[in-house]
Amino acid sequence: MAKMLIKNIKGLFQTGENLPHYKKGEQMDHDNMIENAFLAIEDDEIIAYGKMEDWGGIMDWRNLEVIDAEGKYVLPTFCDSHTHAVFAATREEEFEDRIKGLTYEEIALKGGGILNSAARLQEMDEDTLFEEALERIHELAKYGTGAIEIKSGYGLSVEGELKMLRVIKRLKAASPMAIKATFLGAHAFPVEFKENHQGYIDLIINEMLPKIAAEDLADYIDCFCERNYFTVEQMNTLLEAGAKYNLIPKVHVNQFSIMGGVKAAVEHGALSVDHLEELDEADIAALQGSDVMPTFLPGCSFFLSIPYGKARQVIAADLPLALASDYNPGSSPSGNMQLLTSIACTKMNMTPVETLNATTLNTAYAMGISNSHGSISVGKKANIMITHPISSLARIPYSFGENNIETVILNGKMFHTHKE
Ligand code: NIG
Ligand code: FE
Repeated sequence: MAKMLIKNIKGLFQTGENLPHYKKGEQMDHDNMIENAFLAIEDDEIIAYGKMEDWGGIMDWRNLEVIDAEGKYVLPTFCDSHTHAVFAATREEEFEDRIKGLTYEEIALKGGGILNSAARLQEMDEDTLFEEALERIHELAKYGTGAIEIKSGYGLSVEGELKMLRVIKRLKAASPMAIKATFLGAHAFPVEFKENHQGYIDLIINEMLPKIAAEDLADYIDCFCERNYFTVEQMNTLLEAGAKYNLIPKVHVNQFSIMGGVKAAVEHGALSVDHLEELDEADIAALQGSDVMPTFLPGCSFFLSIPYGKARQVIAADLPLALASDYNPGSSPSGNMQLLTSIACTKMNMTPVETLNATTLNTAYAMGISNSHGSISVGKKANIMITHPISSLARIPYSFGENNIETVILNGKMFHTHKE
């Protein structure tokens, strides 16, 4: 039995036995911190924690690794509940086109954007896609991401979507990160269906979904509900079809326009509604009284220069809020969750503690793993990270662009440690 003891921890964040499944409203600013603490791990689980003064000392040194965390904070690893981390190629040329004045939507209408990524993905074999994605997500783990949701959506054909989802299934088996797979066949209409949208919807429902269910390839279903993409009616049809296979919705809504997608997603029992750069009172009212997690993607707002989510308004409405990276080659080519917390503080006026709740406990909820991840509680997975010696927890968002995480432990095993 492998055991690990972390002692002299300056602050143990997000810790307790009675934490809510997610934090909302004023709770968003609660840190649930134990100062001067210890944390004990056995195999892949957290077995004890508390104040150093209450620590009983070491009874049994066998198979025990002791880490002295003096001056350092310990947190649950980040859960990134919205990514497109399986892709074949980056898109720097579109980045330059946008700098020269084209918008993301204009580039997409010219056949760039998602369709560009779909064309690249078609050319790449499954093994290469898998190897590159594994390396990519493990690079993110060095920045503290311990759980990640990954979407399909660059396949846009039966074979392409299956290829992506099979890659995600292999990632689940190969990585110590917790991984959830979301089927996003409804990401864009492929060129062949430009004039026949219903044909593509039928293909998703009649060809893709049954095969995905037969191979157990997806945990969730997504749809890009947006002008020039999928209408609310089309989303309704697709989510109903997904429900027959027990696929819970996690959807892209309100990135550029308000079309009523939030309310529709709530009615379909969505786990989360993501993007929400545009959000009105009716959307907020639709979220109130539901258990749907509103999720902002500040990396996308930053990179596309579109509005930031109205975090203060959402929190003031006593709602929860999650922050995810949207890691993808078009609208957010960074999966660095620490950087997200910086952007959310400076651009969305969130407090450092709110951003850390929004990237751990609340994103664990938004990917359906809050029973095992997202907080430090007895019996939960030992997915934790140790900071460098830092002056305060606020240092994580404060020193933007830096990696403040020294050590990452996944399932009780040392995954990465950054030595000076
Ligand atoms: O969440 N908005 C839709 N999908 C992605 C972008 C995908 C892409 O540009 O490749 C997003 O921003
Ligand atoms: Fe996305």
